Amino acid sequence: MIRLISAILVLLLCSCANQKAQQIAQGDKLFHSVHLGKNNVIGCISCHTLKPDVTTVGPSLYALNLRAEHLISGLTAEQYIKQSIINPDAYIVSGYSPAVMFAHYQDELSDDEINAIIAYLMSLK
Ligand code: HEC
Repeated sequence: MIRLISAILVLLLCSCANQKAQQIAQGDKLFHSVHLGKNNVIGCISCHTLKPDVTTVGPSLYALNLRAEHLISGLTAEQYIKQSIINPDAYIVSGYSPAVMFAHYQDELSDDEINAIIAYLMSLK
């Protein structure tokens, strides 16, 4: 009986890990797409790099997961990244201007797609 329960638990853990990996892969693809969403709007990679100190239009998202949880008190890193995507003008990164980042990703992307991008950015080390 215990063996059976352990086998079921191992299977469940594997399928969760697999789902997470798939979500991260989906987010990776979305993040690097030049065009995104229902209306093929401008993609993240047109304005953001993932390299330290290489900034284009927006800040480099290198090590964002480490920075994100300390930026706004009361918001976890995931919540901060989500807010940055769906409501970019709620908080403006120092040195940047408001109303530059595309502001309608919530209408363009599904919740699953937004969550996949967040999972991808959180997975970067
Ligand atoms: C047209 C250019 C542009 C596009 C496209 C864009 N961004 Fe941005 N983004 C910016 C600018 C400029 C800022 C800084 C100003 C601000 O805080 O809103 C920013 C800020 C951010 C931040 C906060 C970064 C930090 O250091 O705290 C995150 C996270 C982010 N963007 C994620 C995304 C994601 C994910 C996408 C694609 C779904 C995206 N951005 C698409 C220009 C863009």
